[in-house]
Amino acid sequence: MTASFMEKLIVQGGAPLSGKVNISGSKNSSLPILAATLLTRDHCVIRRVPDLSDTNYMLRILGELGAEVERASGVVSVKAGKVRHTAPYDLVRKMRASICVLGPLTGRLRRCTVSLPGGCVIGDRPVDLHLRGMEALGADVQVDGGDIRITARGGLRGATMNLMGKHGSTVLGTDNVMMAAVLAKGTTVIEGAAAEPEVEDLANFLIKMGARIEGAGTNRIVIEGVRELHGAEHSVIADRIEAGTFLCAGAMIGRGITLNRVNPAHLSVVIASLRQCGFVIEEGSDSLSIKPNKKAKGFDLTTLCYPGFPTDMQAQFCALACVIHDGSSITETIFPQRFMHVAELKRMGADIDLQGASARIRGGTPLKGAPVMASDLRASAALVLAALVAKGKTEIHRLYHIDRGYEHLDEKLAALGARLERLPS
Ligand code: UD1
Repeated sequence: MTASFMEKLIVQGGAPLSGKVNISGSKNSSLPILAATLLTRDHCVIRRVPDLSDTNYMLRILGELGAEVERASGVVSVKAGKVRHTAPYDLVRKMRASICVLGPLTGRLRRCTVSLPGGCVIGDRPVDLHLRGMEALGADVQVDGGDIRITARGGLRGATMNLMGKHGSTVLGTDNVMMAAVLAKGTTVIEGAAAEPEVEDLANFLIKMGARIEGAGTNRIVIEGVRELHGAEHSVIADRIEAGTFLCAGAMIGRGITLNRVNPAHLSVVIASLRQCGFVIEEGSDSLSIKPNKKAKGFDLTTLCYPGFPTDMQAQFCALACVIHDGSSITETIFPQRFMHVAELKRMGADIDLQGASARIRGGTPLKGAPVMASDLRASAALVLAALVAKGKTEIHRLYHIDRGYEHLDEKLAALGARLERLPS
């Protein structure tokens, strides 16, 4: 059990935020990029890896699979000289994203057994599209006793496939197929590919390793298989979801904050949504500034695949809507059950009506501090945002959800002026 499992965050609401914050490297880029180091025997160096329980867990998985792993703050080096082909349940069960070892193990070893990830509070999280992709590459896929067993004795063969699912394209599914296809024989075309910046970042790392990939960052990726990959160095992109969360914080309370080390292009729809509400955002080449606006208007938004509004920002915008003196609505199309934050925000006095996958928020009712329970990563972020503006003290339990995905969130917020402390639960 990690320390943060038993910790809670105490937030004294109402302290104004101001100043500058550095955004960390992307968690969702780091996880598949670290997994991709399994594709070569050579040494790889990955920079700007955020210090989070999820990235640390991925390094543990790489170590257990046989890789030599070293970490010195944000710089991780991996040498996967020999690799085991089995990732058992005990090893992968704590993190759904562990599934992204499936692609590199299949690509390199042509066989692997990876335990099926379980569901989580935001939905049942199937992997059918990942498996469909592996089958399209000529692998035999069996699901048995909770394990996915993949064999491709004759090797993988490039193929044309469509990875579009009923809730849109799949990010880690696209990553997995791309990581297997780079070592397949011939050409692979992924139609309906996820276009998220994190997929493009992974492709850029694979290209540095010698892979031949075109179209990453669009819905059609073309991969020309190569015989082998070599070591490479890479610096992961800025975390656009951490940045979006700080933009919400800056919109909700204080005298204005500036985010440094961001890529504004990856936040276009989030920035546009905030501007539509009336928030003024100043954009530099790698910085963003925002101030609250008492006259901000409500919004109606629907989560979509990139470049649409990210599901990973939905909970934070729900918290933002609570402080805008107007009505707002949010519809979730990617994970229709992803509304665990709503009941907790209501405990703080929020006026939210949840109907299926849509929430209507009547903003402006004052939020009051209360003990609340974090349920998943982004829901926890929404609770922290609400706590920053609430009157009085909020206790957020199950802090380990936040530590999965926000590097030093409490220190960063404290440096901006927030009054908060971490205590044993
Ligand atoms: C990634 C992100 C997560 C983000 C999500 C959607 C990482 C580590 N995680 O998760 O933060 O919320 O993208 O942007 O990058 N689906 C299927 N079959 C599959 C796979 C997915 O039906 O085989 C469905 C899912 O249930 C969901 C939708 O497709 O409704 C998108 O999921 P997906 O993009 O695969 O999410 P992840 O890659 O797991």
